[in-house]
Amino acid sequence: MTTVPADPRLMGREVKRIVYSERQIADRVAELGRSIAETYPDGDLLALGLLKGSFMFTADLVRHIPRPLQVDFIVAGSYGNGTVSSGNVRLLYDPETNLEGKDVLLVEDIVDSGRTMQKLVELLMTRRPRSIQICALLHKNIAEHLEHPVKFVGFDAPNEFLVGYGLDHAENFRHVPYIASLA
Ligand code: IMP
Ligand code: MG
Repeated sequence: MTTVPADPRLMGREVKRIVYSERQIADRVAELGRSIAETYPDGDLLALGLLKGSFMFTADLVRHIPRPLQVDFIVAGSYGNGTVSSGNVRLLYDPETNLEGKDVLLVEDIVDSGRTMQKLVELLMTRRPRSIQICALLHKNIAEHLEHPVKFVGFDAPNEFLVGYGLDHAENFRHVPYIASLA
């Protein structure tokens, strides 16, 4: 277990441990980028980051994909209130880019139940892309059965509440450059 040094970014919050260091994340993101480039030797690739959680991951990942591509973002919200995801998603920001005929790579921070992502894939498929695949930095592997499996996974994450590198707790800690488990 890595002991956590005092970090002014954490606002005095205790973190249990650093789960993935900056170095581990950087190495894995570079590997993912290479494997994505190999998977898409041709075609119009569109990296579609799901905001806000994937802002940092998307920015780092696309720099490691040595081929032409486009970048856009989507913002999704779920219908109804409450903190539990209802499984009904709608787009609060719709990509400018036309998806038709493109190879869409949906970039996610973390797959937990997988509900958000599954619904998003279904919604985006109506835009007739050539293909659509998911790249998630973290996968908790909680979902029993995902109709649209996650093709590219950074790390199989522990079932703990993680923050940093885009992941938030009540909108805080997104800027922390490593991933930590909240105490
Ligand atoms: P899902 O629909 O259950 O897969 O929820 C995925 C979303 O929940 C992610 O995009 C995150 O915004 C959030 N989430 C799930 N687990 C965590 C976590 O450990 N830390 C921070 N956010 C999380
Ligand atoms: Mg969140």
